[in-house]
Amino acid sequence: MQKRDGFTSSIGVTLATLGSAVGLGNIWKFPYMTGANGGASFLVVYIACTFLVGLPIMMAEILIGRHVKANAVESYKRLSPKGQPWFLIGVSGVVAAFAIMAFYSGVAGWVFAYVFKSIVALFTGTQATDSVAMFNNLVNDPIQPIIWQYIVLVSVGLIIMMGVAKGIEGTVKKLMPVLFFLLIALGIRSMTLPGASKGLEFLFSPDFSKIDSTVILMALGLAFFKLSIGMGTMTTYGSYYRNDQNVPTTTLRVMLADLLVSMLAGIAIFPAVFAFGMEPAAGPSLLFLTIPEVFKSMPMGGVFQVLFFVLTAVASIGAMLSLIEVPVAFATETLGWSRKSVTVITVILLMIFGAPAALATSVTKDWQLFGLNPFDFYDYLSSNLLLPIGGLAICLFAAWVWGGKAFKKAMSNDGALHNGGIANIVVLLLKFVTPLLILVILLQGLGLI
Ligand code: PHE
Repeated sequence: MQKRDGFTSSIGVTLATLGSAVGLGNIWKFPYMTGANGGASFLVVYIACTFLVGLPIMMAEILIGRHVKANAVESYKRLSPKGQPWFLIGVSGVVAAFAIMAFYSGVAGWVFAYVFKSIVALFTGTQATDSVAMFNNLVNDPIQPIIWQYIVLVSVGLIIMMGVAKGIEGTVKKLMPVLFFLLIALGIRSMTLPGASKGLEFLFSPDFSKIDSTVILMALGLAFFKLSIGMGTMTTYGSYYRNDQNVPTTTLRVMLADLLVSMLAGIAIFPAVFAFGMEPAAGPSLLFLTIPEVFKSMPMGGVFQVLFFVLTAVASIGAMLSLIEVPVAFATETLGWSRKSVTVITVILLMIFGAPAALATSVTKDWQLFGLNPFDFYDYLSSNLLLPIGGLAICLFAAWVWGGKAFKKAMSNDGALHNGGIANIVVLLLKFVTPLLILVILLQGLGLI
């Protein structure tokens, strides 16, 4: 049998996992959701969700994937007792991957467009143009967003075709370190703007009266989205893990680094929002409106702006690779098709499903699916429904079906690591605390209890 493709080094494993977690979720979604939901109070709920819900599920997914060494559908199928439909976790993951990619590739397209526009501005000396007009020109255009979305999809498809070790691992290893460096530089600039302290206050002093059940559901959804869990991404990546990888340490590191990137993005954006008198609740356009303002006010701002959007594009690529890998791994392994043809079909399907999301600010803005435009529909369906429901099923499956004993054995690399204390806590969370939290938040957020 041919050797299965996988990650080749321990650092490669960590960076690929981090590459999946870090993405537009940190730099685009986290700031605007925090801005729209009251700042620091949202942050507190979000952090609680990542520890109590996110971390245990991430560990469970990776361990299950590594144990079975197969795609998400197959992994749950093989560990299920006969006749029980746990493989549906994997199927829901494939659907979620499509839903997320549909709108995610649209936003990534905006980012790619900004890279291009920033380079043009740099050379033509037009950097000081109005950023509101620049954004509106892009998103109100009936063609540009689609062209950029398709460029994104084809680029990601080409990397995926190269395989797991060469394509995914090779790409993220080069790109992740630069991302951190640039975010720190940007955070420092933003914090030293006049009037910046108001932004930091917004991000760090909570007002708990702003929290209600809808806000909590959104924070939970964001935690799932951020850590790429509840939909088979981490199960699929887990299947490429090395057997000697310390999974608890890796997940904890990834989670903390991911949180750090989100905080850095918040620190780069909110001081600027307040310094330039903008609205923190501006929604999805927040990043595209404030960041160019920060750059306008700094020496060599044009160069930094190019770098910033290049890096955001890079972050989005790491995440998209892990999203597309879910259906690609499933179709190559379970249906036996070649990786190349599966990738081509997946990209074409994404072009079809993604186009209405990319055009949701122009052509399709009046389309309504359950009262939402296509972009918001894909986002809501995945973050607030499929991921939490998938996550709930994963905890129940890991703790009760696969079982605490098997879980602890896998977590300790078959006894090679001594992490019994932590393992007991994680199993306890997975058995009772995490599923109950998800269930209550989900039902309350949907207005069912
Ligand atoms: N975690 C990624 C981000 O924050 C998005 C993602 C979600 C990737 C689900 C894979 C699976 O940008």
